[in-house]
Amino acid sequence: MARIIDGKAFAARLRAAIAAEVAVLPFKPGLAVVLVGDDPASQLYVANKARQTVEAGMRSFEHRLPARASQAELLDLVRRLNADPAVHGILVQLPLPPPLAAAEVIAAISPEKDVDGLTVVNAGRLATGLPGLVPCTPLGCLLLLEEVLPEMAGCHAVVIGRSNLVGKPVAQLLLQRDCTVTLAHSRTRDLPGLCRQADILVAAAGRPEMVKGDWVKPGAAVIDVGINRVAGAAGKARLVGDVEFASAAPVAGWITPVPGGVGPMTIACLLRNTLTAAKNQEAARVGEPG
Ligand code: GUN
Repeated sequence: MARIIDGKAFAARLRAAIAAEVAVLPFKPGLAVVLVGDDPASQLYVANKARQTVEAGMRSFEHRLPARASQAELLDLVRRLNADPAVHGILVQLPLPPPLAAAEVIAAISPEKDVDGLTVVNAGRLATGLPGLVPCTPLGCLLLLEEVLPEMAGCHAVVIGRSNLVGKPVAQLLLQRDCTVTLAHSRTRDLPGLCRQADILVAAAGRPEMVKGDWVKPGAAVIDVGINRVAGAAGKARLVGDVEFASAAPVAGWITPVPGGVGPMTIACLLRNTLTAAKNQEAARVGEPG
């Protein structure tokens, strides 16, 4: 039976360490979150981010735009946040309501304030092994894996999902830790057979309970990034991951639950990125001509 990786407890320890570091800084790190429209799941994420930002001793700036906001309005807001010295991190909540184009909005964020790690500069830094801001969920996955597998070199890691937000950066991080990485996706042939070869299996496909117990190599570390709302007993909504926990847990060596696994790590890593971005920006400011 797998040991459970307690992301909730790990994230609480990480937030406490961040708060302790913030408390002794001569300035307050500031995080701006932009929410366009009124998607209920996004509203909940944004409210949680704001609360945890303040709890960590940082300033939280919330900007809400109506779903009918124009691309130009959104770009204008991002440019104002880029220019605001109290704002060290900018996060534009995704997905944006159509027809807004996320790529152009992300490209407008200053790379040094890009706490989501989504700009081409930060993605390129990650891909080439330079220091930069790393996307939060992938960073959370890596921290959890490092906790249970201190020596990952040579492990075969299979990542299911090729998004810019999760799959691709997780693959880059595992490659940096000397794993042999296979990036699988919806067109991969014999996905169950491939997964059975994985010492580390990261499921980020967005498909409820897709990974079954007989896809898991005995003893593997399984990281479930999925957060899917499905109808449960008596029509009550239930949260499940991309892994069928009941069948996978008896086979795996380590497994993250949903909820309480990767999810809480995302915001903790966002706070960590905001702290990193703030320290970098304040250090650069010291060197600026008055
Ligand atoms: N929507 C769901 N997760 C994320 C995230 O990590 N960053 C952003 N910007 N939007 C999201």
